[in-house]
Amino acid sequence: MIKTAIIGRTGFIGNALYSECKKAHPDCIGTTRQSTKGDWDYLNLLDPDIAALKLAESGHKAAIICAAITGLKVCENEKEYTKRMTEGTIQLIQQLVKEGIKPIYFSSDTVFDGKKGSYDDEAPLNPVNEYGKQKAEIERRMKEICKENYLIVRLTKIFTLEYGDRTILDDMASVLISGGTIRAAYDQIFSITLLSDVINAIQLLQKNNVTGVVNVSSPEVWSRYDLAVKMADCLGVSSKNVQRMSLDDLGEPFLRPKNTTLVTKRLDQEINYKFTSIEQCIKQVTDMWNKNKSYTVQVNQ
Ligand SMILES: NC(=O)c1ccc[n+]([C@@H]2O[C@H](COP(=O)([O-])OP(=O)(O)OC[C@H]3O[C@@H](n4cnc5c(N)ncnc54)[C@H](OP(=O)(O)O)[C@@H]3O)[C@@H](O)[C@H]2O)c1
Repeated sequence: MIKTAIIGRTGFIGNALYSECKKAHPDCIGTTRQSTKGDWDYLNLLDPDIAALKLAESGHKAAIICAAITGLKVCENEKEYTKRMTEGTIQLIQQLVKEGIKPIYFSSDTVFDGKKGSYDDEAPLNPVNEYGKQKAEIERRMKEICKENYLIVRLTKIFTLEYGDRTILDDMASVLISGGTIRAAYDQIFSITLLSDVINAIQLLQKNNVTGVVNVSSPEVWSRYDLAVKMADCLGVSSKNVQRMSLDDLGEPFLRPKNTTLVTKRLDQEINYKFTSIEQCIKQVTDMWNKNKSYTVQVNQ
C-alpha cells in the first residue's frame, strides 16, 4: 500500500483507516484538530495548512480526507459553518495537489435526489438537502482542481459488527431486544456497507491506482423497514415491534432522498470486489445480542 496520510484520524472511518495504514507505514500521518497549531499532526478544516505535516518530504503519496461534518441536521441548521468547512476542504485539496499528493475524498449517496435509485459512478448529481449539496460541490470542484490524479469514493451507510458500536444493526438490536419499538421507513431504500469492506476496497483501488469517481457500496438493496423486520425475526422478537412508516412522516424541514442505491460499475470492472453478505452480518449481530441477553438473564438470576 502506498504511504497514505489520514486527514481526521479521530472519526469512525478515519480511526479504522489510520490503524490499517499504520500497519504498512508505522510513521504515516493521521491528523486531528485536537492538537495544537504547528504540531506535526494538527489540521483544522476551518483553516487548513498542510505545511507542518511535511507530507511529500516524509514520502506520503496520498491523503484520505475523512474529516467532515457528517450530520444532515447540522448541515441544515448551521449552513454558514458547514459551508466554511466545505471551502476548507477545497483549500486542503488544492494544497495536496500542489505538493503532489493524491487526494482521496469520501462523498456520499446523498449527492443524488433518490427518485430512481441505481445511480452509477457517472450519474448526474442532484442533491436535495444541504449535506448532499456540500458533498456535490466538493466533488465538482475536486474534479476541476485535480484534473486526473484524485479519487472520490462514494459511500452508503457504513456499519461495523461490534457489540454496542451504535451503528445501524447494533442500534436496531439494542432497541428490539429490550422490548422497544422501532419506526422504520419502507420507502428509505438503500445499501448498508460493512466498514471492513470499504477499507479493503480502498486498499485495492489504491493498489490499482484507480482515479476518478468510484461508488463503493454493498450491492444488496434493502429498505430500512425490511432490515428492521429481519433483525426482529433473527432476534426472536415479534415483528409488531417494527412500525412501518414513510420518510415523509418524519416531518423534517428538509428532504431525505428516498432511494439512494448505487451501482458499482467501476468497482466491479476495476477490482471485482465481493462484499460481505448483509444477512450474514445480521446473523452475527443478532447472535451477539441474543448471547448477551441470556448472559444478562443468568447474571441477574
Ligand atoms: N459513516 C457513514 O455512514 C458515511 C456514509 C457516507 C459518507 N460518509 C463520509 O465519510 C467521511 C467520514 O465519515 P465518518 O462517519 O467517519 O465521520 P465522523 O465519525 O463524524 O468523523 C468526522 C471527523 O471529522 C473531524 N472534524 C470535524 N470538524 C473538523 C474540523 N473543523 N477540522 C478537522 N477535522 C474535523 C472529526 O474530528 P473530531 O474528532 O475532533 O470531532 C472527526 O475526526 C465523511 O466525509 C462522511 O460524510 C460517511
